[in-house]
Amino acid sequence: MTSTDQPSPPPTIRREDYRPPAFLVEQVDLHIALHPTATRVRARLALRRNPAAPATPALELDGEALTLLSAALDGAPLAADRLHHLPGGGLRIDGMPDSAVLETEVEISPEANSELSGLYLSGGNYFTQCEAEGFRRITYFPDRPDVMARYTTTLEADRATCPVLLSNGNPDGAGELPDGRHWARWSDPHPKPSYLFAVVAGDLVAVRDRFTTRSGRAVALAIYVRRGDEDACGHAMDSLKRSMAWDEATYGLEYDLDVFNIAAVSDFNMGAMENKGLNVFNTKYILARPETATDADYEGIETVVAHEYFHNWTGNRVTCRDWFQLSLKEGLTVFRDQHFSADQGSAAVKRLADVRRLRSAQFPEDAGPMAHPVRPDSYVEINNFYTATVYQKGAEVVRMMRALIGEANFRRGMDLYIARHDNQAVTIEDFVRAMQDASGVDLSRFSRWYAQAGTPELRVWEAFEAGRYTLTLSQSTPPTPGQPDKQPVPIPVAMGLIGPDGAALAEPQMLLLEETEQTYVFEGLPAKPVPSLLRGFSAPVKLSGLTLEQLGFLAAHDTDAFVRWESSQQYATAAMLEMVAALRSQKPLELPEGLAAITAALLDRAMEDPAFAAEALALPSEEFIADQMAVADPEAIHAVRHFLRGALGRRFAARFAALHGDLAESGPYRIDGAAIGRRALRNAALAYLGAAGETARAEAQFAAATNMTDSLAALRVLADSDSPAREAALAAFHARWKDEPLVLDKWFMIQAMSPRTGAAAAEALSHHPDFDLRNPNRVRALVGAFAAGNPAAFHAASGEGYRFLADMVIALDAVNTQVAARMVSPLGPWKRQDAARGAMMRAALERIAARPGLSKGTYEKVSKSLA
Ligand code: ARG
Ligand code: ZN
Repeated sequence: MTSTDQPSPPPTIRREDYRPPAFLVEQVDLHIALHPTATRVRARLALRRNPAAPATPALELDGEALTLLSAALDGAPLAADRLHHLPGGGLRIDGMPDSAVLETEVEISPEANSELSGLYLSGGNYFTQCEAEGFRRITYFPDRPDVMARYTTTLEADRATCPVLLSNGNPDGAGELPDGRHWARWSDPHPKPSYLFAVVAGDLVAVRDRFTTRSGRAVALAIYVRRGDEDACGHAMDSLKRSMAWDEATYGLEYDLDVFNIAAVSDFNMGAMENKGLNVFNTKYILARPETATDADYEGIETVVAHEYFHNWTGNRVTCRDWFQLSLKEGLTVFRDQHFSADQGSAAVKRLADVRRLRSAQFPEDAGPMAHPVRPDSYVEINNFYTATVYQKGAEVVRMMRALIGEANFRRGMDLYIARHDNQAVTIEDFVRAMQDASGVDLSRFSRWYAQAGTPELRVWEAFEAGRYTLTLSQSTPPTPGQPDKQPVPIPVAMGLIGPDGAALAEPQMLLLEETEQTYVFEGLPAKPVPSLLRGFSAPVKLSGLTLEQLGFLAAHDTDAFVRWESSQQYATAAMLEMVAALRSQKPLELPEGLAAITAALLDRAMEDPAFAAEALALPSEEFIADQMAVADPEAIHAVRHFLRGALGRRFAARFAALHGDLAESGPYRIDGAAIGRRALRNAALAYLGAAGETARAEAQFAAATNMTDSLAALRVLADSDSPAREAALAAFHARWKDEPLVLDKWFMIQAMSPRTGAAAAEALSHHPDFDLRNPNRVRALVGAFAAGNPAAFHAASGEGYRFLADMVIALDAVNTQVAARMVSPLGPWKRQDAARGAMMRAALERIAARPGLSKGTYEKVSKSLA
């Protein structure tokens, strides 16, 4: 925290300044006596000087919000002249021998912890979150991932209020204590960094199952939830068992403890956390019943459960040397969870969803003031770097690497990476080196993908003469903050050539564009082909240079599902940009016939693959269109998209109505790819009908729905409409679900994202008795969804949207700095708005920046946005 009168900026941490730790910790024995306001933590650290670091006489330990009660070295209390409190809250101990046992006792208050980092209370139960730097809020420690230690944890609490006592590793004893208290010990045989430490304690109930690994280890599985939620854990448990089997089959990686515990918590800063043997999850990614969770929620659970489970090897057994290497575990683990989910159902549709997400979250980040490489060079607050770039672009980079070296080599590279680095804290270079050594492919140039920020732009030129087709590809990457000049990166371009009749004219192949510009020649073609480029989205780049005619052709004829989808999206994007221009010069809007033809063709084939059709029928988002414009025009973009949805809904009303009728659920509710796809297409039809002003079907569906997917889809149509049924539906939904927090989040989110909710209405919702600044899910559902998912209202010309967000950030920064800093992002790209809006966005950022005592995380986001 900076002081109020003379704020000095918080320090920047740089990758090049990395130094190995002066001391290593061999063993940690913790004793934690839980109490809501006065938890006592006794820590016994067996320390040893690190032979790989220059000798220093002093030991420095991180610490934050700790009250030190006692400290002893090798059994003797530490004299005051050897023990110094450091400015940030840490400790320095002078005159350290080469090895020593340090014993400290501290007091902490879980109840006062609204940051949700370290040990905190949620609904009366105890949870921890230590990644990235929360362990220092539990005890004094060298809180950095390259210090790996073995841990035992003894927990002590009231038996009545805290029957469940969990930590990492295997259970190692339990017993009774006087005064109604009890204890339990956990022992983790695997060395781990402190960020993987966890405690969960309280009145929770377990849903249990078993898994036997392929080498015969029996693993007891348990998901701990609040009483009453036991019936909502089935999908998470099933996802866990499938993940465990998949990692064995795909990578030969087995689980390595006798127990695997998951605990679900309602107050959580992120999605979930891979603590060794004790994953902690946001309830959003565990609890699901058909009546309360949507299909998207079910898919999210499968993905996040897999993600955290896969971290056991990519993250836990092999961890990061420092936080600049975060993508070493996150990019790789997202790649693994995407691959897993693709294997569970339709790989093509999964790919579209992943690409859509990358483009809506990561591309704007790469083009904005917070742009950073997958492996950043510096940070002020590491929690600001758990980003779409580190996660999603990081996964794309791993995916490209696999495409370059081939699947078999990639598997050998994984084996080599794990064999070499098990129980080590390593770097991205170590990962790339394993892939290079296993494949024999030189990846030195490829490593630029980790170092260079910004989205490369790929352009296409063609020539055709006498059977000879020449394809020229060029690349450039726009400058990003701190990186004015960019080098070319190796871009794998999966491609094919298609003849006028739709048949392939050449074998599909992978071009590798390594230079700024390269030309590829194809001989002996009977006719000028249409190039199908970037099949499967083989690289995270922006492609341009194809004509509308070519895009329309590819949308209809390509064999690659991704290119078909992409071409229809690009076609729609081009059409919408033209309409925005038309609107700005006061021309009347008309439905472009080419887009109507693409839609008709999609509808003709919709039943072949309903999930694909639902994805392809969705118009590009307003955010995506804005991202294509030098200066956005949120009102015009919204008006165009609104007009088009209505026009398409009216043009194809009969076909949408037929689809909605034909796809009505018969038989029991099922969660599988086919059933999800049918519901997605049916609800896409419902939404188009709603856009055309036909809300009777939505009303009927809302009244009759027995699952949340259909209920919410209908509510969204009503909430976006001017139907008189709107208010009644919202009220009925609230009345029915007011005691289900995850469903209440949806009630806030639907309204926050509705174009009919202006900034004033969003602000009013922040005063609703059910709104709670201390609950991150609720904040994301209202504030996050409004600012990032309702561009027309957020960018209202009055500036109210910006003022509302700034007010929320300021209020949040006093409660939960991590969540506050995340909420700043939508104010960042002010240079992409017109002068008037840009000035108001800046003013909002400046108002936040001027707050005394602003957290370093929010400060970093705001100051980088203003730069
Ligand atoms: N490692 C977690 C995951 O990706 C994310 C935890 C990040 N937490 C934080 N406070 N930065 O699964
Ligand atoms: Zn992760």
